[in-house]
Amino acid sequence: MGIRFGHISDMHLAGDKASDSLVKLKAAGGDQLGNTTLALQELATEQLDLLIMTGDLVHEGTAGDYAALRALIEQYLPGVPVISAMGNHDVRSAYREGFLGMAKADDSPYIDTLEVGGWRIISIDSAWEKLLMGGVNEPQLDWLAEVAQQPIEKGNILICHHPFCPTLEHTGMPLYPKLEAVLRTGAIKAIFNGHLHKICTGWAASVPHFTGQSLAFDIETLAGKAIYTTRGGYNMCCVDREGHFFVESRIVSPKGTIYQTKGI
Ligand SMILES: [Fe+2]
Repeated sequence: MGIRFGHISDMHLAGDKASDSLVKLKAAGGDQLGNTTLALQELATEQLDLLIMTGDLVHEGTAGDYAALRALIEQYLPGVPVISAMGNHDVRSAYREGFLGMAKADDSPYIDTLEVGGWRIISIDSAWEKLLMGGVNEPQLDWLAEVAQQPIEKGNILICHHPFCPTLEHTGMPLYPKLEAVLRTGAIKAIFNGHLHKICTGWAASVPHFTGQSLAFDIETLAGKAIYTTRGGYNMCCVDREGHFFVESRIVSPKGTIYQTKGI
């Protein structure tokens, strides 16, 4: 039996006052909450086994903002298991308190696992080092190596915020030797992430690697410039009984307005 899951990323919720860029997005008609709600409404028709979220869920927000996101997800996807990775704009203590309901909420790196339908999803914290390109520290790499080798029927899916992207060396992580060694074992069957606000697909040490777009805004690149638009989208994914991944990109706001351009 396969599994069906949604992959949403980079919603940047509740950030309209925290960032000049998000103020411009809003002025141009961008709507992070509206896009996220639309995505969840569509995913509610898909009989999901799982929802994964790959960071920048809330933009420098509070526990209340994360609690609101949890309530929104439960409204449309009641009972669907959810696992997250932290992005460079997430606040770990607020996520732990508001989304997970933890009484003792600290800012330590957020790592987690979730088992669904014979698959283990492993979340590592590539944003904790606060580098634009991301980074994974040694204790996490050791933990990943240990967890990935534990028996699991179908295999492991790795999630994090930052991609391993050889074409964008300032916004993608290096393929650390310890990580590459884990990937070469074959224990991890696919990697999902975000951060780029654009779709990228490829391979990392022979493992399929899917970078989803943002539900807040797209960043396209053209002639040395980063072009920000109000378009947003997400991925509908499935793994068939043979373990083959299929990832469908879906737009929730097809009419994109350019609201900002920056040099790369
Ligand atoms: Fe982001």
